[in-house]
Amino acid sequence: MRKLKVIGIGAGSPAHVTLEAIDALQQCSVVFALDKGATKHDLLDARRVIINTHAPHVRLVTVPDPPRDRNPQEYGTEVRDWHEARAVLLKQAIETELCDDSSSTNATGAFLVWGDPSLYDSTLRIIERMRNHGLEVDIDVIPGITAIQALTAAHAATLNRIGKPVLVTTGRRLAEAPENTDRVVMLDGGAAWLEHARPEEEILWGAYLGTEKEVLRRGRIGDIGTEIAELKQQLRAEHGWIMDIYLLRSVD
Ligand SMILES: C[S@@+](CC[C@H](N)C(=O)[O-])C[C@H]1O[C@@H](n2cnc3c(N)ncnc32)[C@H](O)[C@@H]1O
Repeated sequence: MRKLKVIGIGAGSPAHVTLEAIDALQQCSVVFALDKGATKHDLLDARRVIINTHAPHVRLVTVPDPPRDRNPQEYGTEVRDWHEARAVLLKQAIETELCDDSSSTNATGAFLVWGDPSLYDSTLRIIERMRNHGLEVDIDVIPGITAIQALTAAHAATLNRIGKPVLVTTGRRLAEAPENTDRVVMLDGGAAWLEHARPEEEILWGAYLGTEKEVLRRGRIGDIGTEIAELKQQLRAEHGWIMDIYLLRSVD
């Protein structure tokens, strides 16, 4: 049987890659990655650096990411169709590139997952789909440092206030968060804090965390909310892409 290692590689810094991740990578012959096009080439390059640094014998096989409607009428359906298209392409690549005999040196492949595979990542779901389509494969998951941990460490902050819960959500769903709940917001294509955070709340914001492009801001929404929104636009224009994350919370 083929084997797949789903390896969390941390949220941007090459130093986030754990000893366990390196050990798992070195047992593989192929890394599979979706090529998300020119604007996201930095993300693919980061994987290349990890492979070249820790396991230069491993081949990188890229599969073009299927196109996707970014503003669909039915978000859930669109994402499910997109995952299905990804599953079909990746299954083909795995069957072509990996030997179906576990005693072969070419039976083990990997996915290098940004951050940790459990958090806003589709790799495990796509593997489940591939299995439903008949791919027989053993799975091994290696945890990684998430963007949430990179954010709180960069700000030297605890994630939760004493005894308080924290909701992890997306920019798209921020409006639905219960009032007075601290929120970590990921996958915000815009600046949802401008509409859905209170002026007296604190924002701990970080972009390109763990990379040489890292930018941090911290303050009350009423004081710096607009400035961060403008900065985000500038950074996106400058680099062609942006990844940012933020914690919104009441000040004790
Ligand atoms: C598809 S999710 C992947 C999350 C990842 N699995 C993790 O464990 O952090 C991508 C989102 O994570 C956040 N993110 C990931 N890496 C980041 C980084 N280096 N700096 C800032 N935000 C990051 C952003 O909110 C981005 O939109």
